Amino acid sequence: MVKTIFITGGAGFIGSHVIRRFATNYPDYKIINLDTLTYAGNLENIDDIASQPNYKFEKADISDFKAIERLFDLYKPDGVIHLAAESHVDRSITDPFVFVRTNVLGTCNLLYCAKELWRDNPEGKRFYHVSTDEVYGALEFDGTFFTEETKYAPHSPYSASKASSDHFVRAFHDTYGLPVVISNCSNNYGSHHFPEKLIPLAINNIKNNKPIPVYGKGENVRDWLFVEDHAAAIDIIFHRGKNGDTYNIGGNNEWKNIDLIRLLCDIMDRKLGRPQGESQKLITFVADRAGHDLRYAIDSSKLQRELGWAPSLTFEEGLEKTVDWYLANEKWIKNVTSGEYQDYYNKHYGQL
Ligand SMILES: NC(=O)c1ccc[n+]([C@@H]2O[C@H](COP(=O)([O-])OP(=O)(O)OC[C@H]3O[C@@H](n4cnc5c(N)ncnc54)[C@H](O)[C@@H]3O)[C@@H](O)[C@H]2O)c1
Repeated sequence: MVKTIFITGGAGFIGSHVIRRFATNYPDYKIINLDTLTYAGNLENIDDIASQPNYKFEKADISDFKAIERLFDLYKPDGVIHLAAESHVDRSITDPFVFVRTNVLGTCNLLYCAKELWRDNPEGKRFYHVSTDEVYGALEFDGTFFTEETKYAPHSPYSASKASSDHFVRAFHDTYGLPVVISNCSNNYGSHHFPEKLIPLAINNIKNNKPIPVYGKGENVRDWLFVEDHAAAIDIIFHRGKNGDTYNIGGNNEWKNIDLIRLLCDIMDRKLGRPQGESQKLITFVADRAGHDLRYAIDSSKLQRELGWAPSLTFEEGLEKTVDWYLANEKWIKNVTSGEYQDYYNKHYGQL
């Protein structure tokens, strides 16, 4: 039975949902949230569970080997669920080095510390690496899907750094026998998503009557999954996945960016009491992203067949829930867009 778990990147979008799920569903576990709080880390995301006795926050940079080694010595974790990463493709095009530092070196530091700690007793231990479908490259409009056997072909510095970290995870399994499991997931959406990403950005701009930027002609296709369904899949894979295996996670829910934005505009018009079609006028096409992958689509049948996971919501239901959350949590958006969220650590944990 796993007792002490490091969850890295727990102040981020997906990590906060994983922390909430584990801290709530497993009161006997000790959950240590290990996060350095970059611009994407927001402790307000998990304010609701911050005072639970089975939860603790540790501010640490995974690319700092000494800091990570000290925490492994201190807590002696039985499991690691690794989500900390630089995650925004546009930022990776501007500054690829920080992606190498966090996503590659940081992952390697965690792997090394886990290997050293568990060397004599790997029984019941687990290193879970959370990755992305973007490592597989791009698909044509030909009805094919990414499977666990699809060859890696990353195009952006972000996906190249995640592909590299996946390789390191497998190498630690094959070389040192480290008990690992990897999942590659499609695009997530839901509450607490940093508003530089497509869906929260669009919701925020529609609300404020600002242009909604859409790359190229909006023809790129993504497979969208509700973030709580991703957290549920992580829970199942962490506890029941096979050592050394990879699992693809996806919503079987492909949408062209432009169709998604139109749907979002219609939902927002309804919620805000605007005439239908009003918000679509805000759609503004902008120059396409360099190396923009055309289509992603995930075949998650292995996870469904072997571990019995399935998405719980339709896209329309998930989007409706997401819009409701953003409209009800104006203060969260305001704190993020003003930068105020970065004061949370000082207020609650003392000076940096
Ligand atoms: N968002 C998606 O749609 C999606 C889809 C599939 C996979 N993933 C993967 O899931 C994971 C989480 O994604 P997300 O969207 O929640 O990311 P995010 O950018 O919202 O959060 C990342 C978190 O990691 C922390 N972090 C960054 N660098 C760190 C460092 N050096 N040391 C410690 N902490 C650090 C940040 O402070 C932040 O809290 C990533 O590994 C990403 O590759 C994301």
